[in-house]
Amino acid sequence: KTWTLCLLLLLGVGLGSLEALPPPCDSQIYCYGDLLHQVQMAKLFPDDKEFVDMPLSMAPDQVLLSFGELAKAHNYSIPRQQLQEFVTKHFQAARQELQSWIPGDWKDSSQFLQKITDAKLRAWAEELHQLWKKLGKKMKPEVLSHPEWFSLIYSQHPFIVPGGRFAEFYYWDSYWVMEGLLLSEMPETVKGMLQNFLDLVKSYGHIPNGGRVYYLQRSQPPLLTLMMDRYVTHTNDITFLLENIETLALELNFWTEKRSINVSSGGKSYILNRYYVPYGGPRPESYSKDAELADTLQEGDREALWAELKAGAESGWDFSSRWFSGGPNSNSLSSTRTSKIVPVDLNAFLCQAEELMSNFYSRLSGNDSQAAQYRNLRAQRLTALTAILWDEEKGACFDYDFENGKKNPEFYPSNLTPLWASCFSDPAIADKALKYLEDNQILTYKYGIPTSLQKSSQQWDFPNAWAPLQDLVIRGLAKLPSPQAQEVAFQLAQNWIRTNFDVYSKTSTMYEKYDISNGGQPGGGGEYQVQEGFGWTNGVVLMILDRYGDRLTSGAWPALRKPHCLVVTLLLSLLTI
Ligand SMILES: *[C@@H]1O[C@H](CO)[C@@H](O)[C@H](O)[C@H]1NC(C)=O
Ligand SMILES: *[C@@H]1O[C@H](CO)[C@@H](O)[C@H](O)[C@H]1NC(C)=O
Ligand SMILES: *[C@@H]1O[C@H](CO)[C@@H](O)[C@H](O)[C@H]1NC(C)=O
Repeated sequence: KTWTLCLLLLLGVGLGSLEALPPPCDSQIYCYGDLLHQVQMAKLFPDDKEFVDMPLSMAPDQVLLSFGELAKAHNYSIPRQQLQEFVTKHFQAARQELQSWIPGDWKDSSQFLQKITDAKLRAWAEELHQLWKKLGKKMKPEVLSHPEWFSLIYSQHPFIVPGGRFAEFYYWDSYWVMEGLLLSEMPETVKGMLQNFLDLVKSYGHIPNGGRVYYLQRSQPPLLTLMMDRYVTHTNDITFLLENIETLALELNFWTEKRSINVSSGGKSYILNRYYVPYGGPRPESYSKDAELADTLQEGDREALWAELKAGAESGWDFSSRWFSGGPNSNSLSSTRTSKIVPVDLNAFLCQAEELMSNFYSRLSGNDSQAAQYRNLRAQRLTALTAILWDEEKGACFDYDFENGKKNPEFYPSNLTPLWASCFSDPAIADKALKYLEDNQILTYKYGIPTSLQKSSQQWDFPNAWAPLQDLVIRGLAKLPSPQAQEVAFQLAQNWIRTNFDVYSKTSTMYEKYDISNGGQPGGGGEYQVQEGFGWTNGVVLMILDRYGDRLTSGAWPALRKPHCLVVTLLLSLLTI
């Protein structure tokens, strides 16, 4: 006993800064500790997430005891073969605690399908409507009776998952999934998912990134209030809203209390929000990658990098040159410093949530003082956004690096989130948004809006395009009074539908992301293989088909492109004369 203690102490001293920050959760198997370290560093599985998704086959105390004995028998360096045997004996196959579930409110058809005039697109939409049955999951009762045997966090109600390695719920993904579910006329499924999220807020004070204990200390872009708004608008279930309005407020408090930052400019100080996860250690689900990445750094800097990577995961953009800093390691993942940046999209999401809360309180619950408080918060945020993030000349908002006191001038679709979130005060923003897209030549990308113009090999960068980012820009422009902006929105929608439809025609699969550099194909880059399914991709396609179903075509590309090119060339030659 004493010897083990000494060894652990020595280990602790040796690893030094490992103790500086608390671990990402308190499970000594799924979140931190020697068992996790040895198994993940031995790379028993191609993807580190596999191991932390495996349920135990006996109580955690027994597993730890048995691991302690094994470690001692091998002088604390267990050979791979023995580790493999240990895992096989003490763990069950990954994700078997989740069972497939056919949503009770699923039915053969849905009204919106009738709006789609192109027969091929309509047949495709019918297949996507079927996919909810493949992406539905419920938990085995053991997750409730023996939570300590699982990394899965218990949820009472079944839910829709993204797909592939993402077999549990994810926070911001669920918003676009819910939009799709409402089009498929499945409000009961949406309500169950909402209840799960509200329960999590009651238990933890916030919604974790995803439904596993190792995601507990980080959240994801805050869209819960919007989810509730969409559900209530669809169902008119005001009772449900009023029962839960305090919980919505609690979730927003988390962002105010734990994710605020004071930014000063021109002698004034403003409060805005950021992604920030002050927990140490490698991410359990990408443990060996994080550990190896940190090997390139001085020991004292490793903990900080791991916290920044978790903040990157919290942003939903994991990972991206958007979070890289300049400096010696610029353009590399190890220069990630997410928490030093005030992101446009996060603040626009919160601005929208504040608007919705003030409406909920004034119109539905008749609580004028609370309504006024959220109106004030929104007004303060608009002032801060205009002072710190907005660039009048460029016509968009930009992420702000508050340590270096400067905006990031790069193009990201997220820079237009204030349009989507109706969070701006200057009506001239419509023309400016179009100019911003043209200046960055975004409309020349025919297969989808790129995530950035940087080729970093990270998955939230060029040449990948993601469904939620298409939605941010398309619906942002479509909201504007300018007919030109609305026409561009349609064109972008048509581009995205063609890419998704073409890939589906060839592969019968919907992907989490697409590579737009090579005619549109499944995306790549980042930490894991491209995943199939796929919750938010399906949701966004259904939303676009619902909105523009009478105009969209599945037809061949060149028909539209050639005359378009001709016009552009003509215009350009006129200009040069
Ligand atoms: C056990 O490992 C330590 C340090 O790695 C080493 O000094 C020691 O000789 C080893 N003992 C045996 C019995 O192999
Ligand atoms: C921001 O700064 C002001 C003035 O320096 C201070 O009163 C306030 O408490 C700070 N707020 C936060 C969230 O740090
Ligand atoms: C308004 O909401 C606040 C916060 O929940 C509560 O303390 C207050 O009593 C409510 N006021 C009215 C008039 O309902």
